[in-house]
Amino acid sequence: MASCKLTDNIYSVGTLNPNMRIFDVIMTTEFGTSYNSYIVKGSEKTALIEVCHLDFFDRYIENIREVCDPAEIDYIILNHCEPDHSGALARLLPLCPNAQIYVSQAGSIYLKNITNCSSLPVTVAKDGSSIDLGGRVLKFIPAPFLHWPDSMFTWSESDGVLFSCDFLGSHYCEPYTLDTRVTYPSCYKSAVKVYYDAIFGPFKPYVVAGLRKLDGLDIKMACTSHGPVLTSGCMLEYVLDRYAEWSCPVENGKISIPIFFCSAYGNTGLIAQEIRNGILETIPDAECEIYDINEHPMSELQYKLNTSSAFAVGSPTINGDAVAPVWNLLSHVDAINNKKKPVLVFGSYGWSGEAIPNLTVRLTGLKMTVYSDAVKVQFVPSEADFENARATGKSFAGQLR
Ligand SMILES: Cc1cc2nc3c(=O)[nH]c(=O)nc-3n(C[C@H](O)[C@H](O)[C@H](O)COP(=O)(O)O)c2cc1C
Ligand SMILES: [Fe+2]
Ligand SMILES: [Fe+2]
Repeated sequence: MASCKLTDNIYSVGTLNPNMRIFDVIMTTEFGTSYNSYIVKGSEKTALIEVCHLDFFDRYIENIREVCDPAEIDYIILNHCEPDHSGALARLLPLCPNAQIYVSQAGSIYLKNITNCSSLPVTVAKDGSSIDLGGRVLKFIPAPFLHWPDSMFTWSESDGVLFSCDFLGSHYCEPYTLDTRVTYPSCYKSAVKVYYDAIFGPFKPYVVAGLRKLDGLDIKMACTSHGPVLTSGCMLEYVLDRYAEWSCPVENGKISIPIFFCSAYGNTGLIAQEIRNGILETIPDAECEIYDINEHPMSELQYKLNTSSAFAVGSPTINGDAVAPVWNLLSHVDAINNKKKPVLVFGSYGWSGEAIPNLTVRLTGLKMTVYSDAVKVQFVPSEADFENARATGKSFAGQLR
């Protein structure tokens, strides 16, 4: 992408990465992404907002040069220091000898360890502080945990332009910068949802706080760090509304205790049934569906687990461990928002029975509250095992009432 003028003296100089298919390990990116970066010129000073991924430096510097000589840059504002925004900073700095870097307090610490430069020209952008470019002022608004502790927004009141960083962004790549030119709006909308879930899903209370900070601002354009620039009257309102909706899920008031399991010969599945019966004896209107992990898409299982009040998870012991699909499910736990969640572990085994202790270690590592009485059955459950599974389900649910 070449540079592109967005409005009077505000330019997009970022780069496209249409081929990216996995981002931050945790998310698939069907539509690639872009590393957005902006130049804002005042009558006196020039600011660069966000840098870019190191791999894209050569194209990036060409884009900057289309707008100004890098030596003319007075300020480099990093709303967030993740390497997709800061990776090229160390290469860029020698070309910008006059630049002062503005980052949040947390960002100033991260940046030292990301660049391994001890003498960076850093100024901490304090809450509500601003820099005057001449004819336009850029104000710094902290946005912690959207999605790192260092995240912040930069706001130009006179332009009505918000530099929102990852917030409101998307991993979506088309050759144009503005949302008005998106060719496949339904693909774009699905990318917004995938991005929100992966990046902001763990930080919903912070999303609500961030939206509140934007409430009084008359935003005409949101210059995100990924995907199209959002404009009022096109996608901006859509994305803001979805963020508000997704961050305040409607509760149906019911206690949900899903039961997840795998089973080679059906025994762990039989235990699941009896645990369910026990749970329903205690809480008859609980949502207590049983999920064979191999028969449901991971996205569904992940949602059920992460939005549950408590859950049970079962695995047979196969070759000295729990089985891979169960580990896979537990790798999708939202570790930030599931702390202390009650979990019951169960499973059938033959001789050594490692699945239950191994799952217990994992769940404890996720800071969940593992119920002390796991349901462990040797081979095929007997009547006494069924009775024990039912009683355990009953008492496990008892702590949730
Ligand atoms: C390939 C294979 C490996 C096994 N390895 C172990 C093991 O290492 N330790 C153990 O306690 N049981 C082991 N077992 C026994 C199973 O845990 C036992 O058959 C259990 O009842 C299976 O539960 P399921 O019917 O829910 O699959 C193994 C079974 C199979 C088929
Ligand atoms: Fe980020
Ligand atoms: Fe990012």
